[in-house]
Amino acid sequence: MNTLASYDELPYDSLPLPETQPDFLAAVAQLHGFDAPDPSRARILELGCAQGGNLIPLAWRWPDCECVGVELSRVQADAGAAFVEALGLPNVRILHGDLAALQADLGEFDFIIAHGVFSWVPPSVQQALLEVCRRHLSPHGIAYVSFNVAAGWEKLQPLRAALTGRTAADLPAPARFQQALRVLDELQAEWSDPALLKEIAYLKSAAPSYLFHEYLAEFNAPMRFGEFAAQLDAHGLRYVGEAGPRSAVVELEDAWGMVPEGMAGRWLDAEAALDEVLAVRFRRALIARADAPCARPPQADALSALAFDADLRCDEEIDLETASEQRFINPAGNAFPIAQPAMKAAAVALSAAYPGSLAYSDVLAAARQMLAEYGVGGEVEEAAFRDALFPLVMAHCVMPTVTSVAYANAPGERPCAHGLARQQANAPNWVVSGARQVAMELDAPGRILLGMLDGRRTSEELAAAMRRALVTQGLELPRETVDELTRQQLWLFARQGLLLA
Ligand SMILES: C[S@@+](CC[C@H](N)C(=O)[O-])C[C@H]1O[C@@H](n2cnc3c(N)ncnc32)[C@H](O)[C@@H]1O
Repeated sequence: MNTLASYDELPYDSLPLPETQPDFLAAVAQLHGFDAPDPSRARILELGCAQGGNLIPLAWRWPDCECVGVELSRVQADAGAAFVEALGLPNVRILHGDLAALQADLGEFDFIIAHGVFSWVPPSVQQALLEVCRRHLSPHGIAYVSFNVAAGWEKLQPLRAALTGRTAADLPAPARFQQALRVLDELQAEWSDPALLKEIAYLKSAAPSYLFHEYLAEFNAPMRFGEFAAQLDAHGLRYVGEAGPRSAVVELEDAWGMVPEGMAGRWLDAEAALDEVLAVRFRRALIARADAPCARPPQADALSALAFDADLRCDEEIDLETASEQRFINPAGNAFPIAQPAMKAAAVALSAAYPGSLAYSDVLAAARQMLAEYGVGGEVEEAAFRDALFPLVMAHCVMPTVTSVAYANAPGERPCAHGLARQQANAPNWVVSGARQVAMELDAPGRILLGMLDGRRTSEELAAAMRRALVTQGLELPRETVDELTRQQLWLFARQGLLLA
């Protein structure tokens, strides 16, 4: 079999994935006491990369990296290869092929990414995927393998059983999806379990490919963490840590007195227990070779060697004087309650620098300065600052990285978008990716504007060109409206790091 029919008929949205950025993975590894390779000149392999919506932006951002993607669906692999060729990007290849039959001479990789693959392939391919990690990871390399976790999926199994049982497996994927939507309506009327009803409501608005691949696809085999860890062991691999957001982390008593090797078993048991308590549904496991140094549960004291980025807003006036809890919201809509004034100041400083990142010492200095400017008394003690930052980093309110970089933060005289953004904008099947590997939701006019940003027009000329473009689309808007929308879009592009300085 050289392709998967369902993936050709209903391609999985090939999205950029922030949690797979190599600088982020290296930072997470460092929090777990593990030194990962330099992400700026790494070899990166992505397994089941779809059309390359994640890998191509990584290759663009890191020109000294060498990236290889492998995808079983010919439709997607060919689309990715054609996009790369049109972009003229020399450091990325998208190969059509089966990860279970990978050519042996691909060499070693510092980062291997397999997102949304492990739980959705037959057991033999799962084994092959771990084998690829063992064979192709460099000595300190890190693999990212996401999988569905049984602890949280158990209660959803009746929904999967109903959807697979009441739809016809032999229908083409789009028709079966329509059938599934009708089944969801029936189940909504029949069922009363709040958790299942919540999931049904979510599925009705989620991307069709999500419903299809989680609930209708032949394979979706959630696994207990302990079983996953045992499989790693059997393949000469070991667990390094978790790249997904965490609301609680494992802390081992008397960890200080123990060498990492001694605590590994207890740590893995505690991770498995945490899954049950939190009904964890999905993990993004980081993995290394078993002969690499041992990792440990994440530690706050590793933060001081890292840098951070955050894109947060607070809808009320920020109160830096009291430890009143305020909600900071990221673009995905996740809300993070923050009470400590120094953390609120850190969130403001990081969001102002976004998509740039700030080194730990700069975040601390910015928070201290902001509090001093607002006349808030008292010294911000470094250890307290670090300990308060730690849960925000674990929850992905603030993202860790190993590199601090700055971006153009204003559209400039003649706005110019980088080549990848313009090519994504001009290709309707491609998602435009922000500098921090976020998927941008752009409407048709937004894409037209982005596609035009070649640095030759002023903002006024762009607004005029947009007016003409909208008229050809049958949309006649007042001049001031188009001017204002154009201005807002240009600032949004700058905020997402799409514009050259
Ligand atoms: C659920 S999608 C995830 C796509 C992408 N990684 C993402 O997260 O957006 C799984 C992908 O793995 C690919 N795939 C499945 N089995 C494969 C295999 N044996 N070798 C290579 N790719 C495979 C599928 O074609 C599909 O594109």
